[in-house]
Amino acid sequence: MLAQEDYLADRALSTAVYLASVLGQPLLLEGEAGVGKTEVARALAGATGARLIRLQCHEGIDLHQALYDWDYQRQLLAIRAAEGGLAPGGGLYSREFLIPRPLLEALEHEGPVVLLIDEVDRADDEFEAFLLEFLSDFQVTIPELGTVTASGRPLVVLTSNRTRELHDALKRRCLYHWIDYPSVEREAEIVRARLPEAPEAIALRVCAAVGRLRAEELYKLPGVGETIAWARALLALGDDDLTQTLGVALKVKEDIERVQERRVLEGV
Ligand SMILES: Nc1ncnc2c1ncn2[C@@H]1O[C@H](COP(=O)(O)OP(=O)(O)OP(=O)(O)O)[C@@H](O)[C@H]1O
Ligand SMILES: [Mg+2]
Repeated sequence: MLAQEDYLADRALSTAVYLASVLGQPLLLEGEAGVGKTEVARALAGATGARLIRLQCHEGIDLHQALYDWDYQRQLLAIRAAEGGLAPGGGLYSREFLIPRPLLEALEHEGPVVLLIDEVDRADDEFEAFLLEFLSDFQVTIPELGTVTASGRPLVVLTSNRTRELHDALKRRCLYHWIDYPSVEREAEIVRARLPEAPEAIALRVCAAVGRLRAEELYKLPGVGETIAWARALLALGDDDLTQTLGVALKVKEDIERVQERRVLEGV
């Protein structure tokens, strides 16, 4: 099913995704940047006809961004209207002033949902503790309104780049899978799936080149996204000079210099 969405998963990842969906357990995906973690959730939603709801985590993310917020502007307007004699029917903290954020949206959505909690390692401890609670109950209490419970369990995919270790308690709730870089052959298949117009020779060369780069000690290794972009760049140039287009794959000055100095791509 993932392949229909042009996502090529190996057996271990397919198994993890399958188990997550039949057991109704969250799936935690870790791996280097650009190995296809986020894309799993997108492909899964596409394949199952579920709605994809995404919560992008970042430093300092809080409940108002993740769960719900109050529409202060509309509340203010309502207060002004009330001064003119038009009091809001349900009070200022009623449903009409509530802005649902991704987690609440996922709970309330009728029909299947894939909830992507992306880059959870960027959020802080406190938020992680809240997520733990959310993932065990799939319900949320809004003091002014009461408790909202999921109509059906969303399929949850969490991703982490492992910039820090997640807590054991959160991990224990989840199925875990580490996504590795694909083999050269596998990556060429991915390029073919994503960029069918690229000639076979370009796909193979770019993947071989990326394989070489990943064997180097670089600050930032290229992900699968970069491989596809590189193939696209060569296609657009109608040229096959890998060293002139290094900047598509590498984004750190020292890395580019190192690769050029050591002639890493020679013979590819
Ligand atoms: N197995 C795969 N099959 C098809 N396409 C893939 C695969 N893996 C990665 N891709 C492609 O690589 C791109 C990058 O993947 P994605 O954004 O999911 O990486 P990520 O692991 O979430 O990276 P980051 O850690 O930077 O967020 C995707 O847009 C997708 O096109
Ligand atoms: Mg991602």
